Amino acid sequence: MAGIVLVGAQWGDEGKGKITDLIAYDMDVVVRFQGGNNAGHTIVHSGKTYALHLIPSGVMYPHITPVIGNGCVIDPKVLIEEMDRLQADGLATHRLRISCNAHLIMPYHRDLDGASERRLGKLEIGTTRRGIGPAYQDKASRMGLRVQDLQDERIFRRKLEAALAEKNAILEKVYGLPGYTVESIAEEYLGYSERIEPHIADTAQLVNTALRADQWVLFEGAQGTLLDIDHGTYPFVTSSNPTAGGACTGVGVGPKSIDRVLGVAKAYITRVGSGPFPTELEDCPGGAGEHLQSVGGEFGTTTGRKRRCGWFDAVIVRYAVQVNGITDLVVTKLDVLSKLETVKVCVAYRHEGHRYNELPCHQTIFHKARPIYEELPGWQEDITGCRTFEELPKNAKAYIEFLEDLAEVPVSIIAVGPEREQTIMRRWERRP
Ligand code: GDP
Ligand code: IMO
Ligand code: MG
Repeated sequence: MAGIVLVGAQWGDEGKGKITDLIAYDMDVVVRFQGGNNAGHTIVHSGKTYALHLIPSGVMYPHITPVIGNGCVIDPKVLIEEMDRLQADGLATHRLRISCNAHLIMPYHRDLDGASERRLGKLEIGTTRRGIGPAYQDKASRMGLRVQDLQDERIFRRKLEAALAEKNAILEKVYGLPGYTVESIAEEYLGYSERIEPHIADTAQLVNTALRADQWVLFEGAQGTLLDIDHGTYPFVTSSNPTAGGACTGVGVGPKSIDRVLGVAKAYITRVGSGPFPTELEDCPGGAGEHLQSVGGEFGTTTGRKRRCGWFDAVIVRYAVQVNGITDLVVTKLDVLSKLETVKVCVAYRHEGHRYNELPCHQTIFHKARPIYEELPGWQEDITGCRTFEELPKNAKAYIEFLEDLAEVPVSIIAVGPEREQTIMRRWERRP
């Protein structure tokens, strides 16, 4: 049995899509366990770029069953558009399985996401405005509609009517926005059901059966550890559990099904949206922040927003190792650091004369924490052609070994470019 969880160890966009695609060749099933189309996972193949938002990155291989688990929230319109796009690119989507228990993102969720952000003004979270938070809110308040409701028109309409009684009041009275009729939404959503129906399945059963049959299952995380609703920088987080525990609840497997946890981290760090960011670099021309932003191409895959950039934060990654039980680190975008004279790594924080080696639990301290850096010599070589650890320049090797010491777990995979083959497999054995 092999259950492998892959999670983001920072604030998302760590390169999870590339790494999932890379190791998926040995998998039988790749399953998303949380989030929705707030995610943007980029895969680059022979110069062509694919952006996936909802469908697991394993869809690129014809032998894999891609699964969207019960912990996800699904915008059916986006799902169908993504399936169509993949098909137009020559990729088959008929194997896709969608949990009957996953929740639906409804039009009013998108409206409420935008309206609540506008109301917050300067205090906004900076959400992707895809309706993610309001959909999870309805799930928790037991007012959500699920994928299986698309299969029963009577129930769909009844649940929708109950939801709209509240949603229309909020839209109209709180936000001054137009409400919806049951008819308009039912017509649109039940129209989607014909396309989605063949994919609806008991995915918990599917994944458990695969694991019992000694198949290999990859649980593909979206977002990242510090965007976790419980363990992230609340309230500047998403509304699900992108940490490894979410793989169990978001799919319906027990913790003993997980054999290995890969934590993906960039060789530096980025964040989209608001919230504290101790190692953030100012946008000064010619500075290191500008280097990371432009060389790293740091623009959001989903919203196109410029990503905030900063030096690698070892306090955060050590925290991610603990919260997720990470067994192996994957460091991506090491090539982006080439040509810098020196590279800095945050090893601890300082606040009011105290040194914090671990992530402070109190948000006020984290908001005001100042990084304590160690500065390492950089390397000038282009490393995008390196395929073994030994081929890396001495200073790049020393940088990886330094991160490894700080994180206290091995760096098993190193990415040196966006293409599948631009990778160093240091401690990763192919399936026997
Ligand atoms: P995800 O959300 O974690 O899947 O990450 P994104 O796809 O949003 O962002 C990562 C970006 O970095 C994508 O554009 C990838 O193609 C790119 N990328 C991934 N690994 C590497 C790498 O090692 N080097 C470079 N230069 N780009 C990379
Ligand atoms: P991937 O899977 C980076 C951020 C948003 C915002 C916060 C809440 O590509 O790594 P939401 O729309 O989820 O309610 O927004 O979370 N966010 C992400 N940041 N990568 C992502 O996904 C993200 N998904 C959400 O920018 O700050
Ligand atoms: Mg992304």
